[in-house]
Amino acid sequence: MSNVNDYCIDEVADHTFGLLMSWARKISQANEAVKSRKWDYKQITPIHKLSTLTLGLVGFGKIPKAVAQRAQAFGMKVLSFDPYLSEKIARDNNVELVNLDDLCLRSDFISVHAPLTNGTRGMISTIQFKKMKKSAVIINTARGPVIDEEALIQALQQKEIAGAALDVVEHEPIQDDNQFLLLDNVILTPHMAWYSEESQVELKRKVARNVAYVLAGKQPPYQVNQLNESIGNI
Ligand SMILES: NC(=O)c1ccc[n+]([C@@H]2O[C@H](COP(=O)([O-])OP(=O)(O)OC[C@H]3O[C@@H](n4cnc5c(N)ncnc54)[C@H](O)[C@@H]3O)[C@@H](O)[C@H]2O)c1
Repeated sequence: MSNVNDYCIDEVADHTFGLLMSWARKISQANEAVKSRKWDYKQITPIHKLSTLTLGLVGFGKIPKAVAQRAQAFGMKVLSFDPYLSEKIARDNNVELVNLDDLCLRSDFISVHAPLTNGTRGMISTIQFKKMKKSAVIINTARGPVIDEEALIQALQQKEIAGAALDVVEHEPIQDDNQFLLLDNVILTPHMAWYSEESQVELKRKVARNVAYVLAGKQPPYQVNQLNESIGNI
């Protein structure tokens, strides 16, 4: 069996950082304010200098590594929680490896990149939201169910955290009665982080190469191994 597990890395990293920037500079809120004839930046304060803020990455695979590079270019401090990451890889990427509690306590932005497995389903829930800063914003471009959606809605309604930016939700497309649609402190995009004109070509080329190798009786470039199957990557 084969798959393609390394296309759209830049696209998802760009989208993640775009969501972060949109929140950091309150661009989405400012746009809505101006269009409802409120020409007044005081409606959307406070805004903090990006280089004074900390980004916490949940997972440190291919995509968050690219997100870290973007954040560091803007002067942000980057933390990561990834139980399978070595200190050396963290150090080489100028990222501080921390446990999940520390990441929640210290981050201004928390970006979720862990794959959805039986072990990660609902891993960000009430306990984690209660540890986060009241000013924290959570971003999810991984898979909806990695975050406990009910707990996130409650944390947003009760202002335990400041906001969320979500490219993925538990049930896609988003259901008409999903509370996220009613919350001012949520930015939503329709599971599009992977998309660019170039990533579509990249995916098709890599899939076709897998097929060509198998038809020629060779091992495909992207073979799904036993390890991935045993951790139940969904
Ligand atoms: N929104 C989109 O369009 C889009 C597109 C592509 C990928 N994705 C999502 O992005 C996710 C990340 O992609 P990637 O290429 O960086 O994955 P990757 O396979 O390179 O890395 C996954 C990382 O997660 C870590 N991990 C595993 N269990 C963990 C846990 N319990 N807590 C913290 N970290 C854990 C692993 O150690 C690994 O470093 C994918 O699993 C997929 O769900 C979304």
